[in-house]
Amino acid sequence: MAAIRRGETKYTPVSGIVPLREAIARKFKRENGLDYKPSQTIVCTGGKQVIYNALLATLNPGDEVLIPTPYWVSYPEMVGLCGGTATFVQTALEDNFKLKPEPLDRAITPRTKWIILNSPSNPSGAAYSRDEMKKITDVLVRHPQVWVLTDDMYEHLVFGDFEFVTPAQVEPKLYERTLTMNGVSKAYAMTGWRIGYAAGPEHLVKAMDFVQGQQTSGASTIAQWAAVEALEGPQDHLQTFRKAFEDRRDLVVSMLNQANGLKCPTPEGAFYVYPSCAEAIGRKAPSGKTIGTDEDFVTELLETEGVATVHGTAFGLGPNFRVSYATSNAVLEEACSRIQRFCGALR
Ligand SMILES: Cc1ncc(COP(=O)(O)O)c(C=O)c1O
Repeated sequence: MAAIRRGETKYTPVSGIVPLREAIARKFKRENGLDYKPSQTIVCTGGKQVIYNALLATLNPGDEVLIPTPYWVSYPEMVGLCGGTATFVQTALEDNFKLKPEPLDRAITPRTKWIILNSPSNPSGAAYSRDEMKKITDVLVRHPQVWVLTDDMYEHLVFGDFEFVTPAQVEPKLYERTLTMNGVSKAYAMTGWRIGYAAGPEHLVKAMDFVQGQQTSGASTIAQWAAVEALEGPQDHLQTFRKAFEDRRDLVVSMLNQANGLKCPTPEGAFYVYPSCAEAIGRKAPSGKTIGTDEDFVTELLETEGVATVHGTAFGLGPNFRVSYATSNAVLEEACSRIQRFCGALR
């Protein structure tokens, strides 16, 4: 409101207003121990545009972008739109959907230009501890052609005493080829304000600025000033958010594991769980239809019980489904009871 009253309503520099770029540099220092000058930062219209700018500014035809599965649905689509080729490396439920060093090493080719690392993950909620991340960065250090795009949108949604880490912090040798991405959407419940940001090598950020300059120009002025307040203001709400989400995670994981045939690992963060519905495949739903895929599972669940989830194959790994628990405990309890009833009725 103050920014509107002050008349902060005109075009801004493409990469963002100076106070926000300074606040971003301070955030990376304070929370991640990373030194970035404001000139190494860029403000975009949502975290989405950060990723899109980076890919559009760097990909040539034939360049590969390595994406661990399950992945956030937009990554492969953005790679394709930018003329690159998405390649994938599988994770497993037994490893809580975390990438292992050996398969990662095997999946990297001379054409791999980027790897996208998203921790905590949408859709699995999996987050890498410092030791786990170090094993991944050790592999990446050995492949100097690979740049690292970190999607840290869910940084502040980690539970218990879990410590969030980001790749450039764990392995300083990667600093020169890492774009550390974040935003205010999730940590500050500002999804509609559309502010994402990143920091990285100046020449990469400059290339992203060129792309953005011919596309959307600077992000909304009012939203940029609001993001300054979010990053520089009191942070106590984060503790309240974390506690609420941790309780919801525990409720949902426990209730889903009591559903007939579902297997649900306990993730470290974000607000998603990603149970396996492998045992439901081949069974008959109450409607009489045989469940052949995870897409059938979620469609039947929606039609029979009115519970909306997303099938795992949309995220590149199934048969699973994603449950978002960004809603009240009462709704979650009701939804999970319906999922239990649905699973119990499969024949
Ligand atoms: C993993 C991940 N990255 C990026 C985004 C996009 O963030 P924004 O809304 O700031 O564009 C989302 C939003 O759902 C997400 O889940």
